[in-house]
Amino acid sequence: MRGACACAVVCALVALCAAAELDEATRAAAEKQLLALLGLPRRPPPRRRPPPPVPRAMRLLYDGRSSLPAAAANTARAFYHTPSDLDDRFPAEHRFRLFFNISGVPSDEVARGADLSFQRDVGTTGSQRLLLYDVVRPGRRGHTEPILRLLDSVPLRPEEGIVNADALGAARRWLEEPKHNHGLLVRVLEEGAASKDAKFPHVRVRRRATDVEEEWRTVQPLLMLYTEDERARVAREAGEPRLTRSKRAAQRRGHRAHHRRKEAREICQRRPLFVDFADVGWSDWIVAPHGYDAYYCQGDCPFPLPDHLNGTNHAIVQTLVNSVNPATVPKACCVPTQLSSISMLYMDEMNNVVLKNYQDMMVVGCGCR
Ligand SMILES: *[C@@H]1O[C@H](CO)[C@@H](O)[C@H](O)[C@H]1NC(C)=O
Ligand SMILES: *[C@@H]1O[C@H](CO)[C@@H](O)[C@H](O)[C@H]1NC(C)=O
Repeated sequence: MRGACACAVVCALVALCAAAELDEATRAAAEKQLLALLGLPRRPPPRRRPPPPVPRAMRLLYDGRSSLPAAAANTARAFYHTPSDLDDRFPAEHRFRLFFNISGVPSDEVARGADLSFQRDVGTTGSQRLLLYDVVRPGRRGHTEPILRLLDSVPLRPEEGIVNADALGAARRWLEEPKHNHGLLVRVLEEGAASKDAKFPHVRVRRRATDVEEEWRTVQPLLMLYTEDERARVAREAGEPRLTRSKRAAQRRGHRAHHRRKEAREICQRRPLFVDFADVGWSDWIVAPHGYDAYYCQGDCPFPLPDHLNGTNHAIVQTLVNSVNPATVPKACCVPTQLSSISMLYMDEMNNVVLKNYQDMMVVGCGCR
């Protein structure tokens, strides 16, 4: 009876954990189900090289030190400027083009936020302003002027090395019309009474031959795209309560659960279950975490049902009827009554870092239902 009470998510994971004993077809079916749950069309290819460094903004999100800026977003994707010959047309540092190839974003994802950030050399004098444009149609030299749409206007302070600008309007358009992604144009203007020979801020689009890969990664322009996928949208529209993620630290403290044998008299409660992605064979594409505390619910729902067992009125009645005549109905089931989300970092097929929040992955509270 109790087996039927277990949560489907945990069942799928546990099934995979024991995959060594499963035949190939069952294992494939379980993997397919779990990938669908994670909203992935297929298993990302295994990483051959060590994963590229996770951008700081992504790291902060993952650690729970910052949250997804758009309320509805459940996914964050990081993109770096894709260098091309077109870059050479913008040799100046006060006017340059950035191109982010977001063509790999699944079509069910809707842009909820897009944040462009780059580093510049600090200590430039004078007051400056950065203008960010979406290149709706590129110009043709001597023929037509480009069509530009202003996205953001940001005052630059001399002491600030990191500049952030809002690129949501462009990201939305690129997702709708992928063929018309002509990049972003960045212009830096001198404002007010700045002296003529004030230096333009130095923003680097190109990597120098002397740059070490890791250092370059930290200074090159980065686009953080925040999206909401189909699953999250359906859940939100159905009015599912969104539980905030509990402290990451608590999740990390998990230890591999030893499956405890059912003891009839043990009361319904939350029990430890650590899902180790290495056991599932997924540690080659999931960057972090290595695994997580899923927990599960198990135990007896005795009569009379104590308050702390989070029973519904219906569960109380069912337990009462069962105590009078056990043959008519079973006891209430010990199930998760409160779940919370976890975050996972992985590399997509184009080697971009992706962070996803997955709802209802971890048991917070159990109860008799
Ligand atoms: C963007 O990436 C896709 C998939 O890798 C590729 O097919 C396409 O050519 C790229 N587009 C540009 C403009 O680089
Ligand atoms: C009942 O729910 C609360 C809140 O979700 C939780 O703290 C408590 O542990 C639950 N009771 C049991 C037996 O798990």
